[in-house]
Amino acid sequence: VSNQYENILVDQPKPGVGKITLNRPRALNALSSALFQELNDALQKLDNDDSTGAIVLTGSEKAFAAGADIKEMKDLTFSKAYNTNFIASWSSTIPNIRKPIIAAVNGHALGGGCELALMTDIIYCSSSATFGQPEIKLGIIPGAGGSQRLIAAIGKSRAMELILTGKNFSGTEAAQWGVAARVFYSAEECVQGAVNTAEKIAGMSKVAMRAAKEVVNKSQEVGLRDGLDYERKVFHGLFGSKDQKIGMSAFAEKKKPEWSNE
Ligand code: HXC
Repeated sequence: VSNQYENILVDQPKPGVGKITLNRPRALNALSSALFQELNDALQKLDNDDSTGAIVLTGSEKAFAAGADIKEMKDLTFSKAYNTNFIASWSSTIPNIRKPIIAAVNGHALGGGCELALMTDIIYCSSSATFGQPEIKLGIIPGAGGSQRLIAAIGKSRAMELILTGKNFSGTEAAQWGVAARVFYSAEECVQGAVNTAEKIAGMSKVAMRAAKEVVNKSQEVGLRDGLDYERKVFHGLFGSKDQKIGMSAFAEKKKPEWSNE
């Protein structure tokens, strides 16, 4: 994926790892429609690119993203928001990306920025990151999953307190509460940690990796009985893959598996 974009940078820091850096520094990576369109486009391209196994999404040391673009929303009317289905494209692409996305969150991840992080599969952050849903201070509420995904991560009481007061929580708290999988001391270590994990994931069978992401995400959408049935069906299906034979034969022969991705 080349750098054909104005608001994001795309590179490949290690084989198999596609990295997207939100890059609108003068607006603290506020998520304008143009930025989001580019982000969706780059994610789809990396998802379809056979040489990419996992994706890292990051911002700058100062801001992952300071929210949806307030200046763009300021004069929006109900009818325009409704008729254009404002921000529906936020939820239509990212949840359908089948390769794992790791967010490396440094600095502000507020409003839509927090919601964007919550849409990814794994969050890493630095201890000084600031997460929050401050929409209420602007006279609105979270609109891209904040009220739904945050509850799944931290429970209703904490989510309600944050959404009603608009107060921030730190990277350290994000890790303590289970929003983030790992917390790092510096922004650099955080991005490096995400790249290292993405490289590890990219070294797995792509069939198994896609199946794993799919079944874990299913648990967020359905009840336990349906989720367990779904997991078992996908598990059975993997015995029809070449990589299951490759992986288990390699174990028996004490070799490293050479995945076919089939
Ligand atoms: C547009 C933004 C912005 C945003 C910052 N900027 N956040 N522009 N939309 N969300 C711009 C500022 O206007 C300023 O531009 C420049 O970025 C630098 O910001 P400062 O405020 O000067 O920086 P600082 O003093 O360091 O404060 C950082 C901050 C503050 C605490 C993050 O910028 C802030 O409170 N931002 C808004 C956070 C927020 O409310 N997010 C939720 C948005 S609503 P100029 O031109 O003056 O230099 C939302 C809805 C989601 O996300 C619902 C569904 C999508």
